[in-house]
Amino acid sequence: MAGLDSLVNVLKAAGEVTRLRLLALLAAGELSVKDLTEILDQSQPRVSRHLKLLAEAGLIVRHAEGAWAYFGLSDDSERAVLARHLVDLLDQDDPQVADDMLRLQRVREGQREQAAAYFAEVAGSWDALRNLHVPEAAVEAAILEAVGGRKLDLLLDLGTGTGRMLELLAEKYQRGVGVDSSREMIAVARAKLVAANISHAHIRLGDITEIDAHAGPADLIIIHQVLHYFDDPGNILHTARRALKPGGEMIIVDFAPHELEFLRTENAHRRLGLSQVQMETWARSAGLDVTGFRDFPNKSGRENLTVCLWTLKNTGDLGRRSNNE
Ligand SMILES: C[S@@+](CC[C@H](N)C(=O)[O-])C[C@H]1O[C@@H](n2cnc3c(N)ncnc32)[C@H](O)[C@@H]1O
Repeated sequence: MAGLDSLVNVLKAAGEVTRLRLLALLAAGELSVKDLTEILDQSQPRVSRHLKLLAEAGLIVRHAEGAWAYFGLSDDSERAVLARHLVDLLDQDDPQVADDMLRLQRVREGQREQAAAYFAEVAGSWDALRNLHVPEAAVEAAILEAVGGRKLDLLLDLGTGTGRMLELLAEKYQRGVGVDSSREMIAVARAKLVAANISHAHIRLGDITEIDAHAGPADLIIIHQVLHYFDDPGNILHTARRALKPGGEMIIVDFAPHELEFLRTENAHRRLGLSQVQMETWARSAGLDVTGFRDFPNKSGRENLTVCLWTLKNTGDLGRRSNNE
């Protein structure tokens, strides 16, 4: 509920062309100011001013992350419901809205290409690189512990890279499928599975932003050190859940929030770690419950990166996102 003046202010904030366009873009997922500036083709101060007004009206939330700031529709407030409703009223075929969505798609494609070029380059040396910043043995022990004695019919490993998770968990599943968009990574993963005599796991070339129910139903989905390559990790959870059995689980392993900007410039990271609050929010809106959390500070590494492990359960209770089920 809002008082008269306050509601008028909210409506004024939304009632402007660029700001409505911003709401429509953010309804499709979190975006950085940098990307929004590129999509709208307006100056950064101008875009920031519009974003500030929307944030002050409670229609969107800002999340500062190193040198970048991310924005998204806030999930909880009544104003976010209003924002989503306004976006729903917008005709997606409106030429301006359609053009914005096309530009958003191009920006995302550009980012994917950049990440793909990075992974193509490092595929051969990934197994040496992957544990550089990470207390790997402790994390892998925790993954095994989280899976426990369960026998899984189907394990999906999204962003499988060199297939290490399929190898680690080989005794736990009847059938394992690793999905990755990098041909170079996949080649290494296939060779690894052959060398380890693992014939009940398969590697597929695919984009994890497009996973659907056909990939499942999986008892367990693991997303290990992948989400920080995406502007909107929430979208990945939402998409991945389609391939999860009712009551099925996800294990997410990723960095805690950090300030190592060079990981963006040198290692294709987009998000500087994921916080517990973010994970709770993304999970809830994807129809998942966070059921467990552990963290692993890397005391020996010079960068002091902490790795986190979250377990999520499929409740099937879907929150609202703009992409279609
Ligand atoms: C940091 S590696 C992690 C690999 C593996 N999970 C591990 O922990 O060793 C991230 C992987 O995600 C893959 N990836 C990035 N974007 C992807 C996308 N859109 N669809 C599928 N795989 C993607 C990359 O090709 C890369 O192999």
